[in-house]
Amino acid sequence: MTKSIGVDIGYGYTKIVTEDNGTGLRKPILFRSIIGTYEKGIQVEGLKSPTKEIVSVASQRFLVGCSAVKHSTRILNSREKGWIGSVAYKALWGYALRLADCNSENLLIVSGLPINFYKTDKEKLSSLIKEIAKEYCLNLTVRVIPQPLGSFFSLFFDWSGKVVREDMAHEKVGVLDIGYYTSDLITIHELEVVEKQTDSYETGISTALETISRDIEAAYGMRPSLDHTAQALEKGSIKVFGSEKDIKPIVQKRLTELAQEITARAKTVWKNAADIDRVLLTGGGAEALKPYLNLFQHSFLIPEPQFSNAIGYYNLARRLDGGKA
Ligand SMILES: Nc1ncnc2c1ncn2[C@@H]1O[C@H](COP(=O)(O)OP(=O)(O)OP(=O)(O)O)[C@@H](O)[C@H]1O
Ligand SMILES: [Mg+2]
Repeated sequence: MTKSIGVDIGYGYTKIVTEDNGTGLRKPILFRSIIGTYEKGIQVEGLKSPTKEIVSVASQRFLVGCSAVKHSTRILNSREKGWIGSVAYKALWGYALRLADCNSENLLIVSGLPINFYKTDKEKLSSLIKEIAKEYCLNLTVRVIPQPLGSFFSLFFDWSGKVVREDMAHEKVGVLDIGYYTSDLITIHELEVVEKQTDSYETGISTALETISRDIEAAYGMRPSLDHTAQALEKGSIKVFGSEKDIKPIVQKRLTELAQEITARAKTVWKNAADIDRVLLTGGGAEALKPYLNLFQHSFLIPEPQFSNAIGYYNLARRLDGGKA
């Protein structure tokens, strides 16, 4: 039996695409990329005891995702260089592979790294995945590619790994991946990465969440956390002193500013993008900025943008499975 898995560990969210062992249907899995200290918590007769997402690394326990946000006294995440060598990053991988249910004779795992870490950390990540995944399988294949390339492959290959967009193999394609903390930009010309037209910068949805949170404090006297602000952004309002306050005008203003900042940065690399055949907008941030982002006449939001890197990794894994790559 062979199992293919695409894993996209973002600074904000981890996205996994694999097939369900029972039904064979593809399933997307998502969790917040947060690792925190393990806390036993208080259990009271008659009250709900919290369900916790737990992962162990070298027999040390950690909380993951929403459980960490809720219960951990210390969050271990960082975005410094060396993040992929950290215990927290290892814990995210351990948890991701457990959720992917990856017991299989043959296992194919494809993942990615932000473009600015790709050259330096590719081998490190590959060894880390092998170390964690080897206990699940007999034969293991691991590939690490630049993150936004996943979105390209989500269109280029279909779910079985077959090329369905031959035209893109002869084109110059731009990909702008807007994430939680960062945005990555890559250019692919005839299936090769154009290195001088790549960029990575620390601007993402969290940039707007920071300012929205500050605006809410100035208007209503409460400074929500970034996760709380994200929920409020989705709802269009926030509860303060027991009553709902409309935050739509604040959101509109700050997301417009963020879209302008990202547009300016993309234009320093691509200018007016006249020499590019198409520009793909991807990442969960591109979905959030959809009403505000009007980059080029030939730029478009690709389907399932938050998952599309993971979908492309999965498609590539299927391609490797067919031995055609
Ligand atoms: N359907 C949606 N509508 C609006 N916003 C969305 C939607 N789906 C995802 N998002 C936003 O996408 C953001 C996360 O995007 P994504 O998962 O691509 O980031 P990431 O890859 O973890 O971050 P980074 O690239 O910085 O590592 C979140 O802020 C979330 O609010
Ligand atoms: Mg991302």
